[in-house]
Amino acid sequence: MSQPSLPRLGFIGAGRLARCLAHGFSRAGYPVTAVASRTVASSNRLASQIQHCAAFDDPQQAVDAADIIFLAVPDDSIGTTAHTLRFVSPAKALVHCSGASPVELLTPARDQGAAIGGFHPLYLFSGDLADLERIAGCSVTIEADGALKEALTALAVALRCHPLSIPAGGRMLYHAAAHYAASFALCSLAECVALWRTLGFAEDDALRALLPMLAGTIETARDKGLPNALAGPVSRGDTGVVEKQLALLEGLGGDHAALYGLLSRRAVGLAERRTTPPAAIDAIAEAVEESLSRSLNQAAAGASVK
Ligand SMILES: NC(=O)c1ccc[n+]([C@@H]2O[C@H](COP(=O)([O-])OP(=O)(O)OC[C@H]3O[C@@H](n4cnc5c(N)ncnc54)[C@H](OP(=O)(O)O)[C@@H]3O)[C@@H](O)[C@H]2O)c1
Repeated sequence: MSQPSLPRLGFIGAGRLARCLAHGFSRAGYPVTAVASRTVASSNRLASQIQHCAAFDDPQQAVDAADIIFLAVPDDSIGTTAHTLRFVSPAKALVHCSGASPVELLTPARDQGAAIGGFHPLYLFSGDLADLERIAGCSVTIEADGALKEALTALAVALRCHPLSIPAGGRMLYHAAAHYAASFALCSLAECVALWRTLGFAEDDALRALLPMLAGTIETARDKGLPNALAGPVSRGDTGVVEKQLALLEGLGGDHAALYGLLSRRAVGLAERRTTPPAAIDAIAEAVEESLSRSLNQAAAGASVK
């Protein structure tokens, strides 16, 4: 049963993220009172699964029936939707869930006395209810002030997530950087698959070989931190191997050596942060920078003739 002091929560948008948050908050005892989506079928589907939750066809009705309203629509619709909403009670708050979009898109609500904020779960929602379990242990990045910040922090904890505070104006850089832990990790795997394909390895076999190694690396990073989880020739100070691999990739053409060189530069940075960096780290750094100056020029020349 919900406690009377808890804020009533409303959702505009009933997609992958709203589905998980609405169920999660409701299970944690919060009153989820309203859902309004673009289509009535969508609002009905979500609201009918949640106790005492009403489906509306007009987003304004969700605003009127809740205290904190999550604007869970595609990023391109956040600003336009915010412009259509009216806030007569200053005790209300409008929150979006995008990692990249500025909270200032909600300024029309702030101008009417509502509090505004950002609540970005660092999680890729599938739309399945399995998300409810899988989101535990993730972080939610919160941008808000005062009472709204406290309320959003409590909501993140209710989902069994870690609240992470972000300064105003930092969202675009934050979101760009987060790609390295999601889609760019996949891009690194894709580069390996492409290079292994030249050896005749099928993609399925390659993934079966690579994914357990990636999982082990993630576990080690969790246990020991990034510098101590680093493995491979840079971590061991194997200058000869690094030089030969850079030369081999330069020989393949394209941007293979440039990508390898830039990531090796980051590997050198991690190795330098170890308590005892490898003795050959300066020689490796020099080999990487020399290769990079050749391969970046080559990649740029390749791009200009395309
Ligand atoms: N998906 C993720 O992994 C994830 C992770 C973190 C943050 N986010 C953020 O969460 C927000 C929602 O993303 P999502 O992945 O849940 O999107 P989604 O699955 O595509 O769902 C979007 C929902 O918004 C509704 N909608 C679209 N335009 C609308 C409008 N103008 N007015 C009212 N409702 C509208 C859609 O309605 P219908 O169902 O009726 O078509 C749908 O229910 C985005 O800001 C996104 O950046 C997503």
